[in-house]
Amino acid sequence: MALILDGKQVRDRILASLRPRVEKLAEAARPPGLAVVLVGHNPASEIYVRGKVKACEELGIHSEKHLPTSDVTTEELLFLIRSLNERPDIDGILVQLPLPEQVDEDAVLMALDPVKDVDGFHPVNVGHLVAGRPGPRPCTPSGIMRLFQHYKIDLAGKRAVVIGRSGIVGKPMALLLLYANATVTICHSRTRGLAAECGRADVLVAAIGRPAFLTGEFVAPDAVVVDVGINRLKDRQSVERIFPGDPEKLEELGLKGSVLVGDVHPAALSQCAAYTPVPGGVGPLTIAMLMSNTVEAAERRLGF
Ligand code: GUN
Repeated sequence: MALILDGKQVRDRILASLRPRVEKLAEAARPPGLAVVLVGHNPASEIYVRGKVKACEELGIHSEKHLPTSDVTTEELLFLIRSLNERPDIDGILVQLPLPEQVDEDAVLMALDPVKDVDGFHPVNVGHLVAGRPGPRPCTPSGIMRLFQHYKIDLAGKRAVVIGRSGIVGKPMALLLLYANATVTICHSRTRGLAAECGRADVLVAAIGRPAFLTGEFVAPDAVVVDVGINRLKDRQSVERIFPGDPEKLEELGLKGSVLVGDVHPAALSQCAAYTPVPGGVGPLTIAMLMSNTVEAAERRLGF
């Protein structure tokens, strides 16, 4: 039986360790402050932001949402970011991605004060990561590293394969695995022989955004599988194909209008050593690490 790597349990541990630090800051100075910028009405982004704001409320972190309309210009967003950079009560600024096409995403991320960049996306912080220097790390990969620590999964000398090369997950994930002394391969849409590359992995991190793409032939029997994908199946045919003979999933489709599935095929998971479920695996860790980065930014800015 494969071990299920429970992201909620690790999240709760992380949040419990942050709570006294938030209380200390609130008593001695003020609570940490996070500003979230959410442009337009991307349904997935709205769900993520709701989770982030809720986590702040539960921890006692001040949070505020800024909601420009989807026709916002780059200049308008730059103005907003600069005003948030100036605010003494705001320690962290998070610009939810993706941004609409007309917006110059690079210019917006560059405008963030690196000290307030709780996503770790600013080139200065990317540079710190590449150089192995301290700094805010992107939340999803750093949450995955906490998961490995929690379950005492030793990475030294292991073959780690990361599928996906995004700046949010794939690239920083590969570096963090490298710093943990894994032998790292990054695969992507142009990789030849993807199944064979993945099949050699002791640790497989899937971040490609394609529902149930990695079938059994991609996963070694003793592999640890981390599934970053959060894909929504909206039609009955796909649900029946990916979850054959599972009436609960069809019921879920009827009730919620969609069924979540990761990048790894459910049938491939039962044969590996350990895996993160979707939902309940990586998602909760991302939010916990955002809280952690926000508390650290506040401590640094307030001299704690
Ligand atoms: N969009 C998808 N994941 C993320 C994330 O971790 N941070 C931000 N800002 N946007 C995202």
